[in-house]
Amino acid sequence: MSPNESLGDAYHRATKYARPGGSAVQPVAIARPGRHIDLPPPVTENGAGLWQAIRTRRSLRDFDPSRPMTPAELSQLFWATQGLTFHPSDDRFRASPSAGALHPLDTYLVINRVSGIPSGIAQYDVRAAGLNLLAEGDFSQEVAAAALEQEMAADCGVVFIWVAVPARCKPKYRDRGHRYIYLDAGYLGAQLHLAAVALGLGCCAIGAFLDDEVNALVGVDGETETAVYLSVVGHVR
Ligand SMILES: Cc1cc2nc3c(=O)[nH]c(=O)nc-3n(C[C@H](O)[C@H](O)[C@H](O)COP(=O)(O)O)c2cc1C
Repeated sequence: MSPNESLGDAYHRATKYARPGGSAVQPVAIARPGRHIDLPPPVTENGAGLWQAIRTRRSLRDFDPSRPMTPAELSQLFWATQGLTFHPSDDRFRASPSAGALHPLDTYLVINRVSGIPSGIAQYDVRAAGLNLLAEGDFSQEVAAAALEQEMAADCGVVFIWVAVPARCKPKYRDRGHRYIYLDAGYLGAQLHLAAVALGLGCCAIGAFLDDEVNALVGVDGETETAVYLSVVGHVR
């Protein structure tokens, strides 16, 4: 642990996975804020039964690359995880809870197959409930390689990548904030998974990934912003 590093930052760094020969990801030309893409409004009433979604939820990994997702499905998944559910101009209160309502996690996506939306790297814009496309291109093989060669990351419709911004919660919680980051991420993963089931989509969490290869893909430095959790979603065979 270096003298200037906090305990929480040192813990996160020390538990990263890394490729023995060094990173295989070429730097991605990320353009911020990126090109905004509107999404259809989510459905916020009624819908599929929660008990059935809980009962039938399974981690599914066999995606059908010939069946793209739709922008409406994507919009619904964003809403179920980080949608603003109290007031459209108040980003403290969202579909998922967060310690101190500080929301230290941002949602990035590797878009493999969504009809009408270019493949690439994107970030969810919480306030606009839309997407910012940061880089266009096919990153399916890169993200699968960064996920320790888990092919489901290449075959799925989208890969959700939750990136922590510790500075949002550390002024209040100091190093304990790291615990809350991981707990918050669990909520996002759980709500995404149940929403995917409700939409008839497959979903699987990914905790096994090469941290700094995923960070390089979405254009974050791995320290002030760092990927903590991934999930794949798409139509299964
Ligand atoms: C934090 C976390 C990380 C996980 N990481 C992976 C992973 O990297 N690859 C994978 O195939 N499954 C992963 N899973 C899925 C588990 O393997 C799965 O939940 C478990 O086998 C139970 O199956 P079920 O989800 O169908 O109930 C992860 C699940 C969690 C909660």
